[in-house]
Amino acid sequence: MKIKVAPSILSCDFGRLAEQVRSIERAGADLVHVDVMDGHFVPNITIGPVVVKDIRKATRLPLDVHLMIEHPEKFIDAFAAAGSDMITVHIEAAGRVRLSRIRARVKSKGIAFGISLNPGTPFAKIKRVCRLADFILVMSVNPGFGGQDFIPSVVPKIKKLREVFRGDIAVDGGINEATGRLVAEAGANVLVAGSHIFKSGDYARTIRRLKWVLHGRK
Ligand code: DX5
Ligand code: ZN
Repeated sequence: MKIKVAPSILSCDFGRLAEQVRSIERAGADLVHVDVMDGHFVPNITIGPVVVKDIRKATRLPLDVHLMIEHPEKFIDAFAAAGSDMITVHIEAAGRVRLSRIRARVKSKGIAFGISLNPGTPFAKIKRVCRLADFILVMSVNPGFGGQDFIPSVVPKIKKLREVFRGDIAVDGGINEATGRLVAEAGANVLVAGSHIFKSGDYARTIRRLKWVLHGRK
């Protein structure tokens, strides 16, 4: 499977947001990963629909909106109207019934639906709902902040998930070339990376090297 790279703008310079988004587009990013936090589901607050609307104006890349919020169903319409192409909801924020209702709402707007799970959430939980999702976002850090260390115990979960799920499997948190290779070998095909990309001096080179983790150096 071809590896796609989704830079997480959480680690960008928000004072130059539009410019940074354009830079990662030029550098070969496949998606723009937008981390939405509400201060309840996670202990941090980031951005909302008004900012997503401006990101939409800055790029043609698909906007991959990762909702780390309670009551995600209340905000689907606003994030859809802001121009999201993909919306991900956490399994810890909505049970199976709510997830399928949210899915219907998201899909009715022509938006791809993703389900995310925290590092501590077992495989059995995602297995039960994965047929609802177009893609799965496996968290490899506890969500809330960029720049944390990758949690290696998620690798077996990715392997098991790949056995039952054919869509895109993205991994988010602590991704660099070494951890990117580990998760890609386990069956993931989308690498979400924040600090590794934005702290590098050369976005294009960093993104290219992430896309090539399974093929050695380039
Ligand atoms: C974590 C966010 C991630 C985060 C990744 O709560 O969902 O997308 O920004 O950042 P790095 O790559 O720095 O771990
Ligand atoms: Zn994220």
